[in-house]
Amino acid sequence: MMKLLSAQGAFVTDEPNTVSQALQQAGIPHGKWDPALFSGIDYDTLLSNPNLQEAVLKTVAQPLATLKSSFGYLTEDIIGLTPQTPNLGGILKQFRAEHHHTDDEVRVILHGEGIFGIIPSAGKGEPFEVSLTQCDWIVIPENTRHYFYLTEENTVIALRVFKDNPQWEAIYEPLPA
Ligand SMILES: [Fe+2]
Repeated sequence: MMKLLSAQGAFVTDEPNTVSQALQQAGIPHGKWDPALFSGIDYDTLLSNPNLQEAVLKTVAQPLATLKSSFGYLTEDIIGLTPQTPNLGGILKQFRAEHHHTDDEVRVILHGEGIFGIIPSAGKGEPFEVSLTQCDWIVIPENTRHYFYLTEENTVIALRVFKDNPQWEAIYEPLPA
């Protein structure tokens, strides 16, 4: 379930309509897939087992196809961060710094929890954070300033989708005014 947090990470609300309104105002597409699709998956081995990843992608084929066709995305993969991830601290430090990309950043949370900080462009509301857990998906449009961090469990597994040639470099300098 998505939770709306303040720009400082304090809980604001998990009332779905209120969370949705904040994201809509900021121009952030989002939604929730059917929880039934996520049951019975061995998340402990998912990141190290390509066959299991294939099986998961088949299980979610229908909503995945809808998401891809809605936004023109072509490819997908499954990634994750866990306490076992090499250099987790260094990776998280990079993600935590405010940045943007020249491609959309799309995530469907399969397991765990991740928090995005959003800095809306002018006229689209104040900065806020949103916490995502299993079934939640979000599209952070290209050139939208944002950052990302984990809860103390340090665990998130997510589906990413991409356009043909993703430009995944994080750009830390602010957008020109
Ligand atoms: Fe990013």
